[in-house]
Amino acid sequence: MESIDIAICTNPLPSIHPLVAESRTEGFRFVERLIEEYRSGLNRFDRPGEVLLGASVEGAMVGIGGLSRDPYFNHPAVGRLRHVYVRAAWRRRGVGRVLVMALLEAARPHYQLLTLRTDTAAATAFYQTLGFKPEPHWPHTTHHLRLRNGS
Ligand SMILES: CC(C)(COP(=O)(O)OP(=O)(O)OC[C@H]1O[C@@H](n2cnc3c(N)ncnc32)[C@H](O)[C@@H]1OP(=O)(O)O)[C@@H](O)C(=O)NCCC(=O)NCCS
Repeated sequence: MESIDIAICTNPLPSIHPLVAESRTEGFRFVERLIEEYRSGLNRFDRPGEVLLGASVEGAMVGIGGLSRDPYFNHPAVGRLRHVYVRAAWRRRGVGRVLVMALLEAARPHYQLLTLRTDTAAATAFYQTLGFKPEPHWPHTTHHLRLRNGS
């Protein structure tokens, strides 16, 4: 297995382009939305407790994922995983796990609780493998992970 490099994306626009095209073909709009929000300045993952990480193999970006404060809870101890996407050819090779583990490390100093929303069976299985619990009651949220006081 090639080594997976995780790095902060300070300007994701050039390197993310292949992911945008592929995700659109797959029917996922959220990578495109990430770019739109970055361009407009609405969300650049550049505030405290926020980061956008890219996963690369041999210099080519194969995955992306962001961490921000949860805009729905709007509580400083609640963060949210957003826009996690791994290129189809790279799935089930550990890229998503390495990416999300890095996002969890980045989250620990800032948040007690992480939320996310997904509507695919693959991502549901993925997040539950990583310890996220299904969350049927909270709006805009399908899963959560407690970072302190157990999960
Ligand atoms: C969900 C996603 C990010 C997972 O990324 P990935 O790199 O394939 O995940 P990993 O290879 O690190 O998987 C880690 C573990 O999660 C579980 N898992 C991952 N994908 C799975 C699937 N399709 N079905 C069942 N379990 C799965 C497995 O236990 C896997 O370990 P294993 O391969 O050793 O069995 C990727 O499939 C993806 O980008 N999907 C499209 C976009 C999407 O749905 N994003 C989430 C929106 S919130």
